[in-house]
Amino acid sequence: MNNALKGLRQITRRDRVFNFMVNADELVPDTSKGEILYVEDLSVSFDGFKAINDLNLYIREGELRCIIGPNGAGKTTLMDIITGKTKPDTGTVYFGQDIDLLQFSEPEIAQIGIGRKFQKPTVFEHHNVFENLELAMAANKRVWHTLTATLTGEQKDRIDDILHQAGLFELKFEQAALLSHGQKQWLEIAMLVMQEPRLLLVDEPVAGMTHQEMDKTAELLHHLAGDHSVVVVEHDMDFVRSIASDVTVLHQGSVLAEGTMEQVQANPEVVEVYLGE
Ligand SMILES: Nc1ncnc2c1ncn2[C@@H]1O[C@H](COP(=O)(O)OP(=O)(O)OP(=O)(O)O)[C@@H](O)[C@H]1O
Ligand SMILES: [Mg+2]
Repeated sequence: MNNALKGLRQITRRDRVFNFMVNADELVPDTSKGEILYVEDLSVSFDGFKAINDLNLYIREGELRCIIGPNGAGKTTLMDIITGKTKPDTGTVYFGQDIDLLQFSEPEIAQIGIGRKFQKPTVFEHHNVFENLELAMAANKRVWHTLTATLTGEQKDRIDDILHQAGLFELKFEQAALLSHGQKQWLEIAMLVMQEPRLLLVDEPVAGMTHQEMDKTAELLHHLAGDHSVVVVEHDMDFVRSIASDVTVLHQGSVLAEGTMEQVQANPEVVEVYLGE
């Protein structure tokens, strides 16, 4: 390529997207290098205590990643920063190569395509399972047009599809209040999926679940990976083992180890600070 053309490419290349340029729900992250999330040199202190300390983390598009680590390691704080709830002192968080998430507010980040599930399920108790998903879909401006506030056949099919994946199809017309704890967790994950996030952050999904429910949750998260990137924070090692995905170990606000469960389990430092407890 001749030099003049190269120069032009550099000038016209859209390296960054600024939040005054476009609506958050129209942004599409550039994942051409394979990564959906880039967290670099991240730090945040609370009253002088470094909850996140020079942390670097990369999530590949479509992967299912588990984040483990002792209490207070910074796992939830990391999710707070990615979702815009907490602003870091230093460092960068990019969604794809181009979207600087630190410029956006919490609701904008949700619109850009990052869905977060908190530990406690929050579903609409007085509505049935199907209506819960319908309401979640209505919250998605990309697919819902208020002028024609009825579901298309295609949208109904999507709801049925996610109901099957979440193991809730037979409970479609059951009132949400009557679901078990595990079923409510799956319903909430399904509601998040209705909003079409590219990245799903799930904090401690299996706390309080039976073993059978844990297996179903692992299956559901595996189903969602691929079409979505999924990051799961979890303490239950049996569950993390059963997911059998790549694992990142956080300790004192930074990454202590990364690899398969077998690799991190064999790491003496990880055993000392966490698994040996
Ligand atoms: N908003 C805040 N203000 C003050 N301190 C905070 C705040 N958020 C987190 N911390 C502190 O930062 C540290 C990291 O907490 P964080 O909740 O991220 O840990 P965690 O890895 O999620 O732990 P757990 O496994 O117990 O959920 C803790 O010492 C916590 O008390
Ligand atoms: Mg936490």
